[in-house]
Amino acid sequence: MFRKIDYTERMSEAITALAQSGAFLTVAANGKVNTMTIGWGTIGYIWGRPIMMVLVRPSRYTFGLLKAAGEFTVSIPLSGLAEELKVCGSKSGRTLDKLALTGLATVKGQTVSAPVIADCDLYYECKVVYQTQLDPTMLADTCQKWYPQDDYHTLFFGEITACYAKE
Ligand SMILES: Cc1cc2nc3c(=O)[nH]c(=O)nc-3n(C[C@H](O)[C@H](O)[C@H](O)COP(=O)(O)O)c2cc1C
Repeated sequence: MFRKIDYTERMSEAITALAQSGAFLTVAANGKVNTMTIGWGTIGYIWGRPIMMVLVRPSRYTFGLLKAAGEFTVSIPLSGLAEELKVCGSKSGRTLDKLALTGLATVKGQTVSAPVIADCDLYYECKVVYQTQLDPTMLADTCQKWYPQDDYHTLFFGEITACYAKE
């Protein structure tokens, strides 16, 4: 069972879990559902609405799906699912079905086409309102180390259209 929460309610736990173990970024487009692990993201308030921003490199299979769908979900486990996060963060949906491989179950999204991943603790459903490719000329030298292959992230800003927690 899920309980609706305000997007600020569990923000600190969400960001800590993202940074320490990761979360599932899930997208549905072109008849495919794919999930990948993310470790970076922010939650805030921009353009008069709650926003979650995720960063996806163009080399990810998720990238094209997200461009096509314009919607995504983020499912955050506060403990467990370590092996599943590892698989979804190292294998690509381009060549295999990660949900089938891991046995991760999905639950229909409430406000977006993408589902969420079952058995997580915190959930954010988002509709993309702005996206921009990172401009390397504007990036501080101290951050350049993340891009040895010039695979610069695109930043996807999603309006949070639903936020809930596992009961
Ligand atoms: C802990 C962890 C965090 C990650 N964070 C990100 C991220 O924020 N953005 C990104 O583009 N890739 C990130 N990755 C890498 C992708 O999850 C990985 O390349 C994945 O296989 C892409 O799947 P896809 O090709 O099915 O989209 C992360 C991987 C791990 C293990």
